[in-house]
Amino acid sequence: MRQLYFLAAALVVLLLSACGQQKDDAFLQSSITTPADEEAVSLYKKQCISCHAADLSGRVGPNLQKIGSSLSEEQLISILEEGSKGMPAYKNRLEKEEIEALAQWLAKRK
Ligand code: HEC
Repeated sequence: MRQLYFLAAALVVLLLSACGQQKDDAFLQSSITTPADEEAVSLYKKQCISCHAADLSGRVGPNLQKIGSSLSEEQLISILEEGSKGMPAYKNRLEKEEIEALAQWLAKRK
């Protein structure tokens, strides 16, 4: 009986931590509509999330939630390639098509 209780408690902890992660991911997951978006989101999680946050609301870097309304895909590509002030340049760190996938995905944030 005691063992069962322990097992139940362990399961609850596991479920709770999984839910926390899902909540964090919900915004990014909901932005995926194409396979290229999926690549962009996975790159974003690795390269950008630390400065622009899991919901794109910004941290060290600015909010990107509506970036597609102010910048075109071409402008986004050039910012990602060249960087800007506190923003690192990615042309030597990411493949051209990775930068394009990110720019296309960001251009849809309106
Ligand atoms: C080390 C922190 C940092 C990382 C990592 C980072 N950024 Fe930024 N980003 C910034 C800062 C700071 C700015 C503002 C630069 C400026 O004021 O010119 C910025 C600006 C931008 C802009 C322009 C925003 C605007 O309103 O003009 C875009 C788009 C952007 N980042 C996308 C990305 C993407 C995509 C990634 C990942 C590939 C990324 N950033 C990674 C810090 C970061």
